[in-house]
Amino acid sequence: MEAPISTPNYGTLDFANHTALVTGCNRGIGFALVKALLQTPIKKVYATARNLAAMPDLQHEKLEVLALDITDPASVKRAADIANDVSLLINNAGIATTYGFSNSNNQDLNADMATNYFGTLNVIQTFLPALTASSQQQVPAVIANVVTIGAFANLPVLGSYCAAKAALFSASQGLRIELENTPIQVHTINPGPIDTAMAKDFNGDKTSPEDAANAILQGLKAGTQDIFPDPASQAMFAVWQGNYKDLEAMFSQMNQQAG
Ligand SMILES: NC(=O)c1ccc[n+]([C@@H]2O[C@H](COP(=O)([O-])OP(=O)(O)OC[C@H]3O[C@@H](n4cnc5c(N)ncnc54)[C@H](OP(=O)(O)O)[C@@H]3O)[C@@H](O)[C@H]2O)c1
Repeated sequence: MEAPISTPNYGTLDFANHTALVTGCNRGIGFALVKALLQTPIKKVYATARNLAAMPDLQHEKLEVLALDITDPASVKRAADIANDVSLLINNAGIATTYGFSNSNNQDLNADMATNYFGTLNVIQTFLPALTASSQQQVPAVIANVVTIGAFANLPVLGSYCAAKAALFSASQGLRIELENTPIQVHTINPGPIDTAMAKDFNGDKTSPEDAANAILQGLKAGTQDIFPDPASQAMFAVWQGNYKDLEAMFSQMNQQAG
């Protein structure tokens, strides 16, 4: 494992003070995050999925399962009305299409934006009253957005996905500045390849969702603003920090190999 990347920190976080809600929990990183959160002294975890029938039965006294489709404002509002004690919101739900930019139409390009950008922003806006209320009792409330290292340079085989995640990274930075005089902190989580359905076509080394989830919780506990939860994302971020054009060149090579 590479040395952890150092990015600016908030104070340390004590899970014992928090009630968490995670989006997109029926599989992949979201499911691993729920299992990892339940290993901490957390007060409660709301595990949400757009299709409850697909949610594995975890049976835990601190767990409540809720329906939440991040692209459906009515569904988000229903969940926010129930989970009005949330203080740690992890926006994990996402999709990845394989649209590039030369041939795709607006409808194709919009799919990634509708979920990864607008859907996530709608969740944040709808849960902000609950986060504000809980931050007045237990400092701080937390918004953690699962982005990707592909927000830092575009990989055209996942072109519109990377663009939508870059928009989400930018919105996360903007929110962090907008909220900096409040007790609500904003984190980004920027994985490299993680061994889930989303990365099934990637043939290189992948980190397990369980290892990624543990690293994400370690990053949140340490207060790390921008979390790189696996060796690949840590190495790629180090390249970007050295010279952002070098990460673009690395992704160009990866794109040629994938093509
Ligand atoms: N795997 C990687 O290599 C990787 C790398 C960087 C970042 N990420 C990010 O990590 C997050 C989790 O992805 P994953 O790797 O765990 O992929 P995954 O196995 O495909 O899981 C994606 C999850 O998001 C849910 N989802 C999709 N659209 C939704 C919606 N409108 N409302 C609610 N839930 C929705 C899916 O639910 P359904 O089962 O109903 O579709 C599923 O539970 C995503 O934000 C992804 O972009 C993944």
